[in-house]
Amino acid sequence: MDLNHTLRRLGYVPVIEIDDADNAVPLAEALLAGGVGCIEVTLRTTAGLPSITAIVKSGLPMVTGVGTVTHADQVRACVDVGAQFAVAPGYTHAIGRACHDARLPLLPGTVTPSEVLAALDDGWQTLKFFPASLYGGAAWLKAIHGPIPQANFCPTGGIRDDDIPAYLACPNLAAFGSSAVASRGLIAARNWAGITDRAKQLMAVVRALRPL
Ligand code: 3PG
Repeated sequence: MDLNHTLRRLGYVPVIEIDDADNAVPLAEALLAGGVGCIEVTLRTTAGLPSITAIVKSGLPMVTGVGTVTHADQVRACVDVGAQFAVAPGYTHAIGRACHDARLPLLPGTVTPSEVLAALDDGWQTLKFFPASLYGGAAWLKAIHGPIPQANFCPTGGIRDDDIPAYLACPNLAAFGSSAVASRGLIAARNWAGITDRAKQLMAVVRALRPL
């Protein structure tokens, strides 16, 4: 999978904390009904990996990634459950090597030009920018595009609705992510209609600026 191409088409990646894997497939259905075709299920809960298994086995057309990969030792389990890409909040060469060995596309976390160059050197061209709002937001993306135009980014962390147009205007934005559409609380409450509504509202903004 060409992660940059896929993320540019999909535009938005909900970052998911899920407590019950039985909620994974209804969640994916609710997101798809709202026009969201990609999901990052984090490993912050023990239900993360079984949730990925459930979504992948469902056959739903959901590009399914695994988030909060903080150590190379986690990579094998991510591949085994069928994750299509991995997301790390930061970057270590060991995580990069494990993902390369497993042929698992990775969004390595970066916030400085040196970190971006190190990840590019290791063969990763689409990078996570986290926590985006604390490190300059869309202005950071614009600034780094001048000297390092070959890097594409998926910013997450503190991105509010008002910020979205500025991010989408950045040529180096692959997609952006947030927990806003499907919060842990909405998922636990099984508020699928609420999640679909939020997804539709957010994707309307995305599609206005980035039509299919
Ligand atoms: C994360 O990985 O925690 C994401 O950045 C979600 O951030 P948000 O809750 O601020 O949207």
